[in-house]
Amino acid sequence: MPRTIIEPFRIKSVEPLRWTTREERLQLLRAAHCNLFLLPAADVLIDLLTDSGTGAMSTHQWAAIMEGDESYAGSKSFDRFRNSVQDIFGYRNVIPTHQGRAAERILFGVMCKKGDVVPNNTHFDTTRANIEFVGAEAVDLVISEGRDPRVKHPFKGNMDVGALEQLIQRVGRERIPLVMLTVTNNSGGGQPVSMDNVRQVSSLCKRHRIPLYFDACRFAENSYLIRLRESGYESKSPKQIAQEMFSYGDGCTMSAKKDGMANIGGFLCTNDDLLAQQEKDLLILTEGYPTYGGLAGRDLEAIAVGVQEALEEDYLRYRIASTAYLGNHIAEQGVPIVQPPGGHAIYIDARAFLPHIPVEQFPGVALAAELYLEGGIRSVEIGTLMFGAAAKMDLVRLAIPRRVYTQSHIDYVVEIILEVWKKRASIRGLKLKYEAPFLRHFTAKLEPS
Ligand SMILES: Cc1ncc(COP(=O)(O)O)c(C=O)c1O
Repeated sequence: MPRTIIEPFRIKSVEPLRWTTREERLQLLRAAHCNLFLLPAADVLIDLLTDSGTGAMSTHQWAAIMEGDESYAGSKSFDRFRNSVQDIFGYRNVIPTHQGRAAERILFGVMCKKGDVVPNNTHFDTTRANIEFVGAEAVDLVISEGRDPRVKHPFKGNMDVGALEQLIQRVGRERIPLVMLTVTNNSGGGQPVSMDNVRQVSSLCKRHRIPLYFDACRFAENSYLIRLRESGYESKSPKQIAQEMFSYGDGCTMSAKKDGMANIGGFLCTNDDLLAQQEKDLLILTEGYPTYGGLAGRDLEAIAVGVQEALEEDYLRYRIASTAYLGNHIAEQGVPIVQPPGGHAIYIDARAFLPHIPVEQFPGVALAAELYLEGGIRSVEIGTLMFGAAAKMDLVRLAIPRRVYTQSHIDYVVEIILEVWKKRASIRGLKLKYEAPFLRHFTAKLEPS
């Protein structure tokens, strides 16, 4: 097989990018108070803010959209959506939602109450918020290797099974309505969970009669990383791996904005019919009738095709290789990143990149601002601005939208990061001018300190 991995698609419709000068970017950065969330997207050259809802759809998805059945109840699009999801996930009940967090709100609203405890490898922020909203406690139990950016381990997203056992002993199974596994572990660097770990967590849950749910946003990337890194899976297809993984659980939440390859949408699955009935009752209250759940028929069609396309081998080979390509090319030159490269994003360790900037002066935000100034690249800080004093690391996440950028775009990103790396000693820290009482990173205003 040739060594060069190419984008497994050709481009039929293009969206022009707008160049800005360094002087313009300096003005734009000032106007945005050094917070890249406050930039107009039109002034961004390469947008790596998120991989959520930012992917490009295929010709098959656009064609399916034209088949969208917009009937309020019992639409054909829902049948196609449910059949496609069931083919991969295997769960009895499939409930559409407008995005991942709506599935979370309904799941925890039905399953959890005040005083309950929900373990996960690492809760994504909306997952944690929805658990805390019902008065329950969200506990992160990722293995210790998953908390150290420099440690290389093939499955840094794994759950610490011993810690889970201890938690169950300590609080009692009655207070744990469900256990979750996030595949891949977004908040822990997009790191995968191994099939062996899924099996171990599943058997522990079964022993204690606790249901196991997946946060399945990046299930296809996780499946491919299992194939690449876990013995016994080399000759299995990503779809077979996904099917096996989900067979160990009782249900899932899903944001179709990631491995659903859609710009909006999500779903909630469960094998428990009684629970599904309660979830659908809640769904009708805020999302919509159970055969559309807050989505248009055409969105259901796009997801039905997208979840299958996400599992295509050519696509996954290119997807995982292009993320690793970015990570490896900057790491080779000394740029400190979370190792090994994850599925959907590269995370730069800003504390190690800018050791002269104290944590209180937001090294991650300063680095993200510099990447924009140098080359119009938008990334996001995951650190002290986002989590306050609770932040264990200051990372800059470069999330790669699916099927959007080509290798030359990524080469450009590498070049800009290496330019900034060369002049890192001259980068200054920042101080806050304004902060909102919660989720301050979205609207904060900063200036050079
Ligand atoms: C792991 C994980 N879970 C849940 C969500 C929430 O999904 P949504 O943004 O569609 O509400 C996200 C979104 O980024 C995520 O990465």
